[in-house]
Amino acid sequence: MNIVNVENLSFSYEENIEVLKDISFKIKKGSYTTIVGHNGSGKSTLAKLLMGLLKADKGIITIKDIILNEDSVYEIRDYVGVVFQNPDNQFIGSTVADDIAFGLENKLVESEKMPAIIETYAQKVGMFPYLQSEPTKLSGGQKQRVAIAGVLAMDLNVIIFDEATSMLDPKGKEDIKTLIKELHINSEMTIISITHDMEEVTNSDFVVILSDGKVLDSGEPSTVLYKEDLLKQAKLDLPYALKLQKALEAVDLKVDKNIQLEEVVENLCQLYLND
Ligand SMILES: Nc1ncnc2c1ncn2[C@@H]1O[C@H](COP(=O)(O)OP(=O)(O)OP(=O)(O)O)[C@@H](O)[C@H]1O
Ligand SMILES: [Mg+2]
Repeated sequence: MNIVNVENLSFSYEENIEVLKDISFKIKKGSYTTIVGHNGSGKSTLAKLLMGLLKADKGIITIKDIILNEDSVYEIRDYVGVVFQNPDNQFIGSTVADDIAFGLENKLVESEKMPAIIETYAQKVGMFPYLQSEPTKLSGGQKQRVAIAGVLAMDLNVIIFDEATSMLDPKGKEDIKTLIKELHINSEMTIISITHDMEEVTNSDFVVILSDGKVLDSGEPSTVLYKEDLLKQAKLDLPYALKLQKALEAVDLKVDKNIQLEEVVENLCQLYLND
């Protein structure tokens, strides 16, 4: 069953400059979908359109069988949430706890249940000690963690992460990735992750490749990521497994059994250094 259906969607910020050009794709309920594309390809614009923060010029967005329009937008936001790449625009409360509570209030969660939910999610993203801090005084990565906690706490059907871990340190990125995966596995939650991380794409269920406002391809990563020319056209990096395979092919490992291990290692090092 598809939970998101985008049909022939077009959008321009300015007249005659189309940022999204007649794009169509479907996202399965409960999937972990990645959306990739070069800078300016239209990914964040697409995320805003899916949330009804921008209005399409043409096309239809359906979420949970509800067609997104001015009347349905508030209902749709009960099901879909987004964490944007720049967390600065996402704070309204005077404390971190208020901020996480904001989404819960919108979902009409009973007030006596809120503290436990807020504490659980603050803990999950490592922000429990900051619950009474002022959000504006946090670092970029800490703000992202709070924004992620706020959205996760809302128990939504679809969450869009728009490069939501871009400001996190490597350990933080890994922790949040693991947390999202756990939540995804343990629930019916559909994850849409806008990312430049090709390893994350490799591990997702479905990938949509955007280039210049168009869908270049979509499908299972095991199929799409082997299309080297397509990745080049989309200005995307090759996934590590493919790079490794190419490096091993370069030393002709399969054909020449007498190949020296040093030569293989040298090739892999070269690959690593060129990365
Ligand atoms: N508010 C705006 N007004 C006018 N043009 C805009 C606006 N926001 C984005 N654009 C333009 O729309 C295009 C797509 O931008 P968008 O932010 O969706 O790209 P993106 O794929 O998210 O890029 P990135 O990887 O850098 O985040 C870009 O050419 C950008 O300049
Ligand atoms: Mg963006």
